[in-house]
Amino acid sequence: MRLRRPRSALIAGAILAITLLYLHQSSGSWTPLASAVPAVRLCPEPPLLEDILVVLRTGATEALEKLPNHFDTTLTCVPDYVIYSDAEEYIKGHHTYDVLNEVNEAVKREAPEFKLYEQLRTNGRAGLNYEIIFGSGPTGALENPGWKLDKWKFLPMVRRALLHRPTAKWFVFVESDTYMLWQNVVEYLSKFNSSEAHYLGKHMYIGSVLFAHGGSGFILSNPAAAKVAAHWKSHEDEYDRYTLGEWAGDMVLGKVLKDVNIDLFWAFPHLQGDSLTTIDWNVSKVDRQPWCYAPLTFHHMNKAEFGSLWEFEQLWLRRNTAVPKFRDIFKAIILPRLRPDLGEWDNISGGIEYSDEATAKLSDEKKRALSMVERKAQTSFDSCREACESTALCIQFSHAPGKCLISSELRLGNAADSQCLEYSRAAGRCIKTTAANNGDSSVSSAVVRSGWIMSRVSQYVDELDQSCTGPEEDYWVT
Ligand SMILES: *[C@@H]1O[C@H](CO)[C@@H](O)[C@H](O)[C@H]1NC(C)=O
Ligand SMILES: *[C@@H]1O[C@H](CO)[C@@H](O)[C@H](O)[C@H]1NC(C)=O
Ligand SMILES: *[C@@H]1O[C@H](CO)[C@@H](O)[C@H](O)[C@H]1NC(C)=O
Repeated sequence: MRLRRPRSALIAGAILAITLLYLHQSSGSWTPLASAVPAVRLCPEPPLLEDILVVLRTGATEALEKLPNHFDTTLTCVPDYVIYSDAEEYIKGHHTYDVLNEVNEAVKREAPEFKLYEQLRTNGRAGLNYEIIFGSGPTGALENPGWKLDKWKFLPMVRRALLHRPTAKWFVFVESDTYMLWQNVVEYLSKFNSSEAHYLGKHMYIGSVLFAHGGSGFILSNPAAAKVAAHWKSHEDEYDRYTLGEWAGDMVLGKVLKDVNIDLFWAFPHLQGDSLTTIDWNVSKVDRQPWCYAPLTFHHMNKAEFGSLWEFEQLWLRRNTAVPKFRDIFKAIILPRLRPDLGEWDNISGGIEYSDEATAKLSDEKKRALSMVERKAQTSFDSCREACESTALCIQFSHAPGKCLISSELRLGNAADSQCLEYSRAAGRCIKTTAANNGDSSVSSAVVRSGWIMSRVSQYVDELDQSCTGPEEDYWVT
C-alpha cells in the first residue's frame, strides 16, 4: 500500500494559482476538460522517493521555452533533481549546469558545433540569434547546432550526476519535452534491485548498436552509472573519436554500456517515444501493447499536454491507490476529445490515402479494383467517412480538399494549424497546410477535418479492456 498525503499545504495555494494560470494559457484547441486541479497538491510518498535523482537534460536554445513546463508540474513532486545544459544560468530560479565544460579542449576546437558553446560562454543569451536557434536550410532544426551539441552531454552527464548524488540508488534521465509520471516511476523502480547494474529504456537501434532512446527517458542504477563514469574517464579519447563520427548521444552512451557489459533492459511500453497526441494507443512492439500497462514517460509533450496530464495525475492520486495505466489516461484525456467531426484538426491518419496523387501511383489493376465509395472518398468529408466506414477496422479519417486519409490506428492528432513535430516518426504523416507552411495562421485552419467512427471507438476500448485480465503484476515489465 502506498502512502499518500499532501507534502505541504503551505505552498499549495501558490501551486494552485500557477496551475490555473497555466491551464488558462493552454493554447486554443487543446482546452482542459475537467475543472481546475484541486487546491492541495498531492505527491506520492513511497520509501524509494528519496533514493532517486532525476536528471533533466536541456540546451540554451530550448530551455526558456520548455523547462517551465516541468517547473510548474512534475518537478514540484520530485525531491531531488538536477538540470544539465550547455550553459550555466538560472531559469525562473532553477540552476542549469554547464555539463560540456568537461569535454576535451581538442574536441571543442575540432567540432564546429562548439562555436555555439563558445558564443554562449562569451556572450550568454545575447549570442543566440534566430539562425543559431532554429538552424538554416531545408533540414531546419536537424542542422540546429544546439541539437548537434547535445550528443556531447551524455557521458559527462552520467558522471556529474553520480558526483552530485553519490548515494542515489537510481538516476532517471529525461529531456525537456519528456513528461514523467513520477508516481509510476517510483512504483516501477521499487520492483528492481538497485544494487545490481541496471540500464532500463525504450530500445532503439542505430546500425548494430542497441541503446535506450533519450527522449523516452532512461534509467541507470548506481552501479551502472558508476561503471559508465569510470570506463568513460579511462577511455576518453576513444569515445571522443566515436562521438565525433556519430550523431546521437543516447547511442554513444549505449555503446559505453555495451562495452562494460551492461545489457539494455527493454522497458517498452513503460517508456514512450510519442506524446499524448501522436501515440497510436494500440501500438505493438516486442509483442506488447500499452493499454494494460503503466506509462512512466511520454515524449514530445508540449505545454498544453503537460498541463492536461498533470491535472489528470493530481485527480488520480485523490481517487485511486493503484497507479494509472495507459487506458486510464486514454479514457480521461483522449476519449472525451474524439468526435464524429472535428474541424481544423489533423488526426494523423497514416493508413490508406485517397487523392489524385495516390491514385496515380496505383497499378491499372488496383485502380480498377477501387470501389465507388473509394473513388469518391476524396471529394468531401462525408465521402471520406463513408470510405472509412466501408473499410473493416478503419477507426478514424481525415479530409483535406482533394485528399482523404483513413486509418485503423487510433491517434488524437493536433490542431491543424500546429506545427508538425520535428523528430517524431509521425512527422512525415502530418498534413502541413499551406498557411502553416507560410507561418500565416489567418488562412490556415478550415483545411483539415478529422473524424472518428464512434461505435468502433467503443468497440476498440471494450476489446482492449478485455485484454487486461491478468493480475496487476502481469503488467509490469520486470
Ligand atoms: C540485490 O543484489 C545484490 C547484489 O547482487 C544482492 O547481494 C542482494 O541479495 C540482492 N537483494 C535482493 C533483495 O535480492
Ligand atoms: C488524418 O491525418 C492524416 C495524417 O496527417 C492526414 O493525411 C489525413 O488527411 C487526415 N485526415 C483528414 C481527413 O484530413
Ligand atoms: C491491438 O493490437 C494487437 C496487436 O497488433 C491486435 O491483435 C489487436 O487486434 C489490436 N486491438 C484493437 C482493438 O485494435
